[in-house]
Amino acid sequence: MTREALLQFLGTITDPLTGQNLVLANRIQNIQIENRRIGIIFSFPPKLESRIKSELHEAISTGLMESAPGYEVDLHFGNPGAGEKKSSNLPQIRNIIAVASGKGGVGKSTISVNLALGLKNLGLKVGLLDADLYGPSIPIMLGLKGKRPQVRQVYGVSKIVPLEAHGIPVMSIGFVVEPEQAVVLRGPRLAGIMKQFLEDCLWPDLDVLVIDLPPGTGDIQLTLVQTVPVTGAIIVTTPQQVAVADAVKAANMFRMQGIEVPILGVVENMSWFTPAELPDHQYEIFGKGGGRQLAGHFQTQLLGQIPLFMSVRSSGDEGKPAILHHPETQTVFEKLARQAYESLQIRNETMPPTEKVRMNK
Ligand SMILES: Nc1ncnc2c1ncn2[C@@H]1O[C@H](COP(=O)(O)OP(=O)(O)OP(=O)(O)O)[C@@H](O)[C@H]1O
Ligand SMILES: [Mg+2]
Repeated sequence: MTREALLQFLGTITDPLTGQNLVLANRIQNIQIENRRIGIIFSFPPKLESRIKSELHEAISTGLMESAPGYEVDLHFGNPGAGEKKSSNLPQIRNIIAVASGKGGVGKSTISVNLALGLKNLGLKVGLLDADLYGPSIPIMLGLKGKRPQVRQVYGVSKIVPLEAHGIPVMSIGFVVEPEQAVVLRGPRLAGIMKQFLEDCLWPDLDVLVIDLPPGTGDIQLTLVQTVPVTGAIIVTTPQQVAVADAVKAANMFRMQGIEVPILGVVENMSWFTPAELPDHQYEIFGKGGGRQLAGHFQTQLLGQIPLFMSVRSSGDEGKPAILHHPETQTVFEKLARQAYESLQIRNETMPPTEKVRMNK
């Protein structure tokens, strides 16, 4: 038995938490092969159920009896203390970007959709998660309204398989919770559903997962940072001064002591309107300067200014993302995606990975 053959074999075994194979899910911490003995140390979160552990044990030892007959097999699951960082719920996702705002209706969902597709156009593997319980914007914007995701059993546990739209996996909490149900959910119950939802989706291997948040700083935001390590946040604002004041509050939540999610930058949306017949004019309908001011306040970058486009509004309503259908918006959103990705790379080179927020209660 060689190391390569062993890894190849482990690549055929399903990871109980992500539905990926064990190698892709980054579960192999150490392997040793000597004197007809195979030793494997896995890296799992400490809470892995013992029933699942024994099923996994069974699957691996039975498989190895065939592919490596005569070898003694020694498996160690979970190694609390060591590799804390590796025991993420979503080890197959390299970066998580949260798109947030203070005020509602400033364009978070629009930016999330077009940013995700823009990042995909750069050649990255991208997924999109809609964490807004109250408005099914993402399903509408991607033409997925009324669709239901499939459920797959992994070691006897039901997991949700994201839908696909325009070549990216998409999951919306609106696919599993009806809007009428959502309005009565409060505080802890909401947090519980959100947490389960984050943990029970079977995401593929991704460079970036873009998460579209509801406005403000509520339970969803807190549950998110407690459940997954958010690599960075992008704050969306309009140029208007009142929007900036609210956006500061939203951004402050990410910077709070103990949360410490870096701000990757600011997107100013609805910056101006240029009518087709007056291409040299910029009508600053919502005022001016908000994005730059907000970026200055947090010593971060203004990643882009997105003008008002009639096509952005209409394409959102029709489920055909603007970046894919309207060349005048394509340039703007692709530039935004490049800036955001650059900022993400700088963040990863200069700062340690984000850790999940630990609760003391
Ligand atoms: N640059 C733009 N040009 C034209 N219309 C836009 C632009 N950005 C957003 N819109 C439109 O504004 C409305 C609100 O946008 P969106 O739903 O993306 O905001 P949001 O911040 O996600 O809202 P919510 O807080 O409700 O989640 C939508 O109808 C969208 O199509
Ligand atoms: Mg929205």
